[in-house]
Amino acid sequence: MVAIAPSLLAADFSDLGREVAKIEEADMLHVDIMDGHFVPNLSIGPAVVAALRKKTELVFDVHLMLERPLPYIKIFREAGADIITFHVECQDPPEALIEAIRASGAKPGVALGPKTPVSAIGSWGAELAQATIMTVEPGFGGQKMIPEPLEKIFQLKARFPGILVEIDGGVNLETAPLCKAAGADILVAGTSVFRAEDPRLEMRCLAL
Ligand code: DX5
Ligand code: ZN
Repeated sequence: MVAIAPSLLAADFSDLGREVAKIEEADMLHVDIMDGHFVPNLSIGPAVVAALRKKTELVFDVHLMLERPLPYIKIFREAGADIITFHVECQDPPEALIEAIRASGAKPGVALGPKTPVSAIGSWGAELAQATIMTVEPGFGGQKMIPEPLEKIFQLKARFPGILVEIDGGVNLETAPLCKAAGADILVAGTSVFRAEDPRLEMRCLAL
């Protein structure tokens, strides 16, 4: 069965503790970190992640949309990250990032922008626990899914057996079946879960 990772970006930022309580039965919480350089938006920093860590047992799936993530790996791990994902398009070397993530005790993941091919991942991909395929241009929630990148699920699994593939961007009740049919393991869903009248029901329907 597919795992559901609601994206905090679509939650009510004035009441995050209560928002996270609504999705306690999710498989993990997806946390988007943006630096205003790698993507044209800013989101939250480690202080918010640390504050939420005290409120929930959920696995924290931290998606770093940072130009230079290396100095922040340990900081986000100490704030409570369980999985730390960097972008293959960032400016730090992937081998050093994976080593830092593993040394911190978190699981490493890589994210690919919608136009970035699987071939951008070198042999270091064998060290990854997870790969995130972006189905929108990173930076903002609430965008429409670009379906073409879903082809990369098969390519990733063929190259890296055992890797978990996450789909991020524009996942909703209409697009989730496409992702599942293409072999996705984890669906990130921001707007569809947090803006639903009943987030629990929405998560169950997405997983069906
Ligand atoms: C976009 C983020 C996504 C985003 C998904 O840069 O990485 O995680 O929050 O939001 P929805 O589900 O609303 O497309
Ligand atoms: Zn994300």
